[in-house]
Amino acid sequence: TTLEAFARGLPKAELHMHIEGSLEPELMFALAERNGVTLPYKSVEEIRAAYAFSNLQDFLDIYYQGAGVLITRADFKDLAVAYFERLAADGGVHAEIFFDPQTHTERGVAFETVIDGLLDGMAEAEERLGVTSKLILCFLRHLSEESAFETLEQAKPHLAKIAGVGLDSSEVGHPPAKFARVFKAARELGLKIVAHAGEEGPPEYVWEAIDLVGVDRIDHGNRALEDEALTQRLVADGTTLTVCPLSNLKLCVVPDLTAHPMRKMLDLGLKATVNSDDPAYFGGYLLDNYLETAKAVDLSRDDLVVLARNSFEGSFLDEAEKARRL
Ligand code: HPA
Ligand code: ZN
Repeated sequence: TTLEAFARGLPKAELHMHIEGSLEPELMFALAERNGVTLPYKSVEEIRAAYAFSNLQDFLDIYYQGAGVLITRADFKDLAVAYFERLAADGGVHAEIFFDPQTHTERGVAFETVIDGLLDGMAEAEERLGVTSKLILCFLRHLSEESAFETLEQAKPHLAKIAGVGLDSSEVGHPPAKFARVFKAARELGLKIVAHAGEEGPPEYVWEAIDLVGVDRIDHGNRALEDEALTQRLVADGTTLTVCPLSNLKLCVVPDLTAHPMRKMLDLGLKATVNSDDPAYFGGYLLDNYLETAKAVDLSRDDLVVLARNSFEGSFLDEAEKARRL
């Protein structure tokens, strides 16, 4: 079989995907029309042409603007269902999806509208596609600790439906330490914890995420490799890294996919996984990330099996569920 058929046929979990980042230009246009929202673009082609980013902030500015078309519960459901259909077509069987409530509550969309719509989509995906999923609520790190605490408060009636909390948005200048107390409160509520660290930020932010915050996974983690003691610590702890190769390329974290550290991460014994991050913006879903990375840094079929296994081992599925899928 071809590598593509092999990789598609491998059951895989996706652990790093922002649901707002799966908003394809076609759906963005349709929702803008449905909701009477004016977009600063005249066509789908014009939107795609705007997706040329020099760094994370370039992307975030466009990503938050795009999310402005999401207004109703049905919008969030449609968004989620569209993602799960793509994931299922790629041989994905489980996803732990990020959502950014503050992006919506700050413009007057209720927390309940967001979470209920996403849960509608997740239920349909499980029933119709056999894809299971969990929700991870992300705090926007460019906003205040106080705003994160308010968001955690809004999540309290929904804790049974939320697996964990994360930290995303503009990394540099907003270290994990800024949110140490919010994460402590989340931990006491029984939530898992993840944080974006070492995408653009320095190794020090990864140290903070593991030692100060006590994360269960690191999202990205690329720059951890600059610090040998940190790398050894992540190997010793078996910390899962949710790596996003096409995102790294599009946000200029790497100059070229052949320079991507994935090969090195596996050789070092790091528990790396492959993920799409914001697939509508970065030009590829889960399978594209596996295949393009495999081509660029010479991953074997055995490597792809390891990556897929890491995705289940690093997931927040319970042990019985993991055992069933491994
Ligand atoms: N990094 C930080 N914040 C984000 C990202 C990302 O790649 N995608 C969506 N929010
Ligand atoms: Zn991300």
